Amino acid sequence: MKPVNIGICGLGTVGGGTFNVLARNNTQISARTGCDIRVTHVAIRSDKPEFDLSGVTVFEDVLELAQADGVDVVVETIGGYDLAKALVLTAIEHGKHVVTANKALIAEHGNEIFAKAEAKGVSVFFEAAVAGGIPIIKAVREGLAANRIEWLAGIINGTGNFILTEMKDKSRDFADVLKEAQALGYAEADPTFDVEGIDACHKLVILASLAFGIPLSFEKAFTEGISKIAPQDVVLAEELGFNIKHLGIARQVETGVELRVHPTLIPQSQLLANVHGVMNAVMVKADAVGPTMYYGPGAGAEPTASSIVADICDIARQIDAPLDTKVPPLAFRPGFIDGGEVLPIDAVTTEYYLRFSAKDEAGVMNHVTQVLGDAGISIEAMIQKAPGFDDNATKVATVALITDAVIESNMKQALASIEKVDAVQGSVTLIRVESLA
Ligand code: HSE
Repeated sequence: MKPVNIGICGLGTVGGGTFNVLARNNTQISARTGCDIRVTHVAIRSDKPEFDLSGVTVFEDVLELAQADGVDVVVETIGGYDLAKALVLTAIEHGKHVVTANKALIAEHGNEIFAKAEAKGVSVFFEAAVAGGIPIIKAVREGLAANRIEWLAGIINGTGNFILTEMKDKSRDFADVLKEAQALGYAEADPTFDVEGIDACHKLVILASLAFGIPLSFEKAFTEGISKIAPQDVVLAEELGFNIKHLGIARQVETGVELRVHPTLIPQSQLLANVHGVMNAVMVKADAVGPTMYYGPGAGAEPTASSIVADICDIARQIDAPLDTKVPPLAFRPGFIDGGEVLPIDAVTTEYYLRFSAKDEAGVMNHVTQVLGDAGISIEAMIQKAPGFDDNATKVATVALITDAVIESNMKQALASIEKVDAVQGSVTLIRVESLA
């Protein structure tokens, strides 16, 4: 059986999981690939007595591993930007194939990395970078190759989904749940990546590139986090028949591509609205197959290792084949990746949830509905809570409403006009709504 030598950089959660899965399932993996896939090299910064490293060459410096003779595939699990990028580029330069779980690296430097890999005739695979254990890259890149993809929408950050689920189910507030998510080890080293949508945005731009054949466009995507979601919005959304989820949405429209991550009201009847806790899910709408959905764990040692090892298997099966006979990393042949003007958020058309407080006076709602009517915005649903007293002892009522679809620039103008209505107190909360039809 042909030996394929693996060098793993980092034996932390993901690298360690990969080491263990490769060892435990070696027989099945060999039977599936026809290759003897073995870890021959690792790079670690401290002793790891929990792993049997007998016969394995151990480096402290990942860049040394990336150049080592005898390594066929370099697995990057160190995360971060600079060193990870240097490691991947060094490995490619030395003719090694690369498997990485690093979504930030692929989303922000993938165009450069894939160009270099193409020039050197090696593969760079990254199934573990998006939605952990869900084989969503393979599904979009290969399984849906017959289709013109219309849109995809995903819950692709487990930490954010855990926080929103706890807020809904246990009436907890945001800061309290975030602390628990950090203690449970779900959050990124910098949790702002999770709660402000940066992590989800990294994953979304990768999926959009695969779906639409556009260059990776992280810097053009719109990102809004969940840190300002108030418990009362979770409750009001539920009363209106929606759950709030932190969604990444990529949609091909006539004028360009929508690329946006933001809190979103989803009708409770939709499967995506019922993906709870740390689980991830991605829904893809494509012209031939219709809607499909992919659900599973978005993080964790062995779910992520499952994706990394699948990539290793793909590389091993075709390790000596010329690059142009293999599946391209971003689904489309490099010469066909182009265009994809990313629309600014003001040019996106969607429905909206608005919530505001207004003084308990006659004619206020008339005034607000007049503003929306003048802007051509129709109201689909509305609830008003019985008035209570605010912090200034003013009698106010909370109003929440859902509009029909309107271009965002119009919505923002109307919102500014509502905020100028005398009886409306403070600012209006806006959350986008997606029916996913
Ligand atoms: N912090 C990420 C999440 C880990 O919560 O989904 C997986 O990318």
